[in-house]
Amino acid sequence: MRIGPLVLDNPFILAPLAGYTDLAFRLLCHEQGAGLVVSEMISCHGLNYGQQQTIAMLKTVPEERPWAVQLFGSEPESMGRAAATVSAMPVDLIDINMGCPVPKVVKKHCGVALMKPENRALAEQLIQAVVKNSGVPVTVKFRSGWDDKSIIAPDFARMCEAAGAAAVTVHARTWAQQFGGRADRSVIAAVKRAVKIPVIGNGDISSHADGLAMMAETGCDAVMIGRGALGNPWIFRPEGRPESLAGRLPLIRRYLELAQEHIDTGKLLFRIKNHVSRCLAGLPGAVAARQEIMACPDASALAELLVK
Ligand SMILES: Cc1cc2nc3c(=O)[nH]c(=O)nc-3n(C[C@H](O)[C@H](O)[C@H](O)COP(=O)(O)O)c2cc1C
Repeated sequence: MRIGPLVLDNPFILAPLAGYTDLAFRLLCHEQGAGLVVSEMISCHGLNYGQQQTIAMLKTVPEERPWAVQLFGSEPESMGRAAATVSAMPVDLIDINMGCPVPKVVKKHCGVALMKPENRALAEQLIQAVVKNSGVPVTVKFRSGWDDKSIIAPDFARMCEAAGAAAVTVHARTWAQQFGGRADRSVIAAVKRAVKIPVIGNGDISSHADGLAMMAETGCDAVMIGRGALGNPWIFRPEGRPESLAGRLPLIRRYLELAQEHIDTGKLLFRIKNHVSRCLAGLPGAVAARQEIMACPDASALAELLVK
């Protein structure tokens, strides 16, 4: 799998998930076999204004390569400036968010608002500005369209390709669907037929085998996994998630190590409680274990609980 000059070991990519895909979780997914990992979405304004919280989201380590930074914004000049800043860092790819349906993002003409017909020229200018200012390949992540009457993904992908994108990712749902219904794989197949650049399929992948099935069904070149990786970083391995607690503990302990090393103290406890309890899902006694985890006062109490 190639995206411009960037060669990936395998075609399974960790999706950007705001609030989840911090450095620790991205490293964990890399260790499990993800071919590429993507940051949470990062505001170009936050970056241009040097906001501490935004800069912290760009923290990386050499073991994380290859990794991608996802930017969002709606002003070509600001996006171009942010792209120049990011591509001067140890980053392998810049992705542009044109799929986020969150109202406060859409209201500012960012995310999936860029798929509205009246914003087509703006979307094109944004891609051109990022490509012009970036020393790394640029990709665009978008949805099927605005609603079921405007499934424009194939045409939108052609615009991205002409504007200089090195690949596109399609979350095969419309804005109107938000996260409901099922991702429509026929849209991914139509995008694949529409462009020459690589196409990354996204939406509802529930296992490694399901990711392979999406590639076979649609012809897409790679797949991106979001919610399917939460509580299940093993999804990047063909063997999948171990059935037993003993089988899952080594990865959970590894996550704790990575989290203690890389997550800010302020966010640490909330994030580890969240990820660790998700990793126990489906096991006998998982509900009781979750209650114990949630009651832990700090990270070391949680680590001790896992040794018991
Ligand atoms: C909690 C959460 C946070 C997300 N954050 C982002 C984001 O920052 N950028 C983005 O492009 N998509 C974001 N998404 C969308 C996912 O990347 C992905 O496109 C979507 O969840 C469909 O894939 P999945 O079914 O594998 O989860 C988010 C989704 C969820 C559930």
